[in-house]
Amino acid sequence: MGISGKKILVLISGGIAAYKINYLIRNIIKQGGETQVILTPDAEQFVSKLTLATLSKKPVFSDFYGPNGEWNSHVEMALWADAIVVAPCTANTLAKMVNGICDNLVIATYLSAKCPVFIAPAMDLDMYQHPSTKLNIQKAKEYGHHIIPAENGELASGLIGQGRMAEPENILNTLNNHFDTAYKKSLDNKKVLITAGPTYEAIDPVRFIGNHSSGKMGFALAEESAKRGAKVLLITGPTTLDIQNPNVKIIRITSAKEMLNKVMEHFQNMDIAIASAAVADYAPKEVAEEKIKKNDDSLILELVKNPDILKTMGENKTKQLLVGFALETQNEEENAKLKLAKKNLDFIVLNSLRDNGAGFKKDTNKIKIISKTTVTEYNLKSKNEVAKDILDAVENMLHTK
Ligand code: CTP
Repeated sequence: MGISGKKILVLISGGIAAYKINYLIRNIIKQGGETQVILTPDAEQFVSKLTLATLSKKPVFSDFYGPNGEWNSHVEMALWADAIVVAPCTANTLAKMVNGICDNLVIATYLSAKCPVFIAPAMDLDMYQHPSTKLNIQKAKEYGHHIIPAENGELASGLIGQGRMAEPENILNTLNNHFDTAYKKSLDNKKVLITAGPTYEAIDPVRFIGNHSSGKMGFALAEESAKRGAKVLLITGPTTLDIQNPNVKIIRITSAKEMLNKVMEHFQNMDIAIASAAVADYAPKEVAEEKIKKNDDSLILELVKNPDILKTMGENKTKQLLVGFALETQNEEENAKLKLAKKNLDFIVLNSLRDNGAGFKKDTNKIKIISKTTVTEYNLKSKNEVAKDILDAVENMLHTK
């Protein structure tokens, strides 16, 4: 939780506190976050690009163009970020930010961003108290930015007062709190049902028909929903996975029929249902009471159709937002759209076995989200990141419903 997995754009302007940003970056990386550092030309006097690049494990930028004339895209970096931290933020950079004076890469990136912005001002005490600084801080707040107030103490000038940049651990705490709270709100009080894993259809007491589903996608969805404040009921077929979270209740079943019974017991009480289970389409007509002996040269098993759990949910849908998955090998979009309609879904997540890295037992997935009116294609991502994309789509649809 918190900053883990988050992309933080660190914008450094030219103040003595810039050297402390090395600690901030080191700790963001340690806690599982990712950073992209951009400096104003003045900041380069205070902190080394080499140190920042080594700590952040990637190139840092201070100019619109690289040494070979390549463009350092401020738009791309701005849209990549989950949050921006401007630290230290000098009086000059603050003034340029709130007035849109776009004369360096830091300001251009800031102006292109849509994510939350955190500002850690740092300047001498009289500059901090100046009405113009106060007005600029007020304006930044009005833009919805978060101010991490300067702290009291000895300043570089030798004077003592308010103006020292907040300590890196305070900046980090603010970011961690922000992401925790942002999580808590988005699906608060929503009840989410998720089906996951394979189903096993018994042939005899020791054998079954099953499939290679690991349950990873469903478990990632359950974990992400709980992080966003939902109460989750995860109904899963056999898997070794587990989740320790008071907001996730796991019901473990074996066969499709058991899954259907549990799903329908709880479905009416749910706000959102996501069917990611790889349910066996057919089950043996008869389950042998004793272990089948290998007497004959061939063995014929008669299979009968299993209930379609997702379709049953679609038929009984009242207020629920219903999401299904489709795994297709040909005419993917067309087939997924047919399932969307046939099963009465709000949207369907299409993954194609043709994509390298997508599918059963993998940690990554490549999806398209298809609704009645839109098709959105995503890059290959970890299943945790894919879960976020799917739940973002759920939230968007809830807001427009
Ligand atoms: N599903 C279900 N119950 C079933 C079969 C499928 O709930 N008996 C759900 C899956 O969890 C998934 C979606 O339906 O969300 C699509 O499953 P898929 O096997 O791809 O499609 P089918 O409807 O079974 O059609 P087909 O196998 O012919 O492609």
